Amino acid sequence: MSFDLSVIPNKNIIVGITGGIAAYKSAILVRRLKDAGFNVRVVMTEGAQAFITPLTFQALSGNPVHTQLLDPEAEAGMGHIELARWADLVLIAPASCDTLAKFAAGLADDLLSTLYLATSAPVWVAPAMNQQMWAAKATQRNLATLVDDGVHVIMPESGSQACGDVGLGRMPEPEELARQVTDYFHKAQRAIAEKFGLLASKHVVITAGPTREAIDPVRYISNHSTGKMGFALAAACYAAGAKVTLIAGPVSLDTPNGVHRINVSSAVQMLDTSMQLLDEGCDVFIATAAVADYRVAEVAEHKIKKSGDELNIALIKNPDIVATIAQQDKRPFMVGFAAETRNVEEYAAGKLVAKKLDMIACNDVSRADIGFASDENAMTVFFAESYHLPKRDLEKASKQEIAQQLVEAIHDALHHDPAQDEAF
Ligand code: C5P
Repeated sequence: MSFDLSVIPNKNIIVGITGGIAAYKSAILVRRLKDAGFNVRVVMTEGAQAFITPLTFQALSGNPVHTQLLDPEAEAGMGHIELARWADLVLIAPASCDTLAKFAAGLADDLLSTLYLATSAPVWVAPAMNQQMWAAKATQRNLATLVDDGVHVIMPESGSQACGDVGLGRMPEPEELARQVTDYFHKAQRAIAEKFGLLASKHVVITAGPTREAIDPVRYISNHSTGKMGFALAAACYAAGAKVTLIAGPVSLDTPNGVHRINVSSAVQMLDTSMQLLDEGCDVFIATAAVADYRVAEVAEHKIKKSGDELNIALIKNPDIVATIAQQDKRPFMVGFAAETRNVEEYAAGKLVAKKLDMIACNDVSRADIGFASDENAMTVFFAESYHLPKRDLEKASKQEIAQQLVEAIHDALHHDPAQDEAF
């Protein structure tokens, strides 16, 4: 089982829109929910249609808009019961005080109120109304009933209102509503992944990106690594239920959702951070970083001034991070990468042994279509001899898909019992 937390796969949201000026914000809400990967269907009350047209929501949601309860044509397409079953979440935004009253009373005289009774999905309401109507005893009584009935209320914000009043009753911004919905599904998915994911209960540490080796206060030696493979792996490991710490060299990538990122610059800093994390407990160590092989022997205290036709800078060898971690007593499951331009498999197999790794993923960086700055990759995975696992060819695919396959390979090796092979 695997989970991709970067987008929400196949979750269905019904956005219910009722009559209120905040209905214009719902157009952006639907857009943001679609951007986040949700399937969205919109239900509008008659009041809502006085503020904004169904056509707008049809275009934004990519689905016909549902407005009628007793429309034979609509019922033949997706009837109210089917619609109620389709939903993974029903979000009423804006929710007028009339709709809250109907829900609280259990009326079913239009499509939205019928849907409310017919769905078993969680129902969220984002009330929006005049501050006096919000404060009215009947509204507060209805809200208390709805909360009692298990409805989640997104509280209105305070501020200036379209009617000229100032006070509580403004619907939160659509981006904020979409964030809360996305968050809800992320948390639900994460809870499942933490229990059943391929790397559930594992702490995975990943090194990624280049290192920067200072020459003087303004100059450094580095390389073209973008860190994309390491970041994709961090996302995939998190989606598989692991706790993930990403030790990142200088790269311009966003930290994947849920991943703890520690920024470093030099190879020595990357090693120090790795050793600290090892002390704190690490089950899988994945080294994707393109660590500079050498660093400047003596970093100049001040900017080196131009002089003469030649400048010689002495370099000394950097520590091999993955090999150092692999030598520790309490070593985690060790995964290395090999980027080669020739004899790819032979060199990779050599590194697997020399660095005492459990698994190595290698690719041919002489191919322009994969590797380094590319968004795609193709790899061959080798396991240490003791695993008795055959090599795996991972066909050219996006770095996300390759990352997912690497997670599966790690899982398979972690759960592979060589004794079982000998029994056959
Ligand atoms: O020896 P080479 O650089 O080709 O080895 C690549 C593998 O070793 C990668 O997994 C890389 O992250 C790791 N490595 C390291 N520390 C170094 C050099 C490489 O962890 N100093």
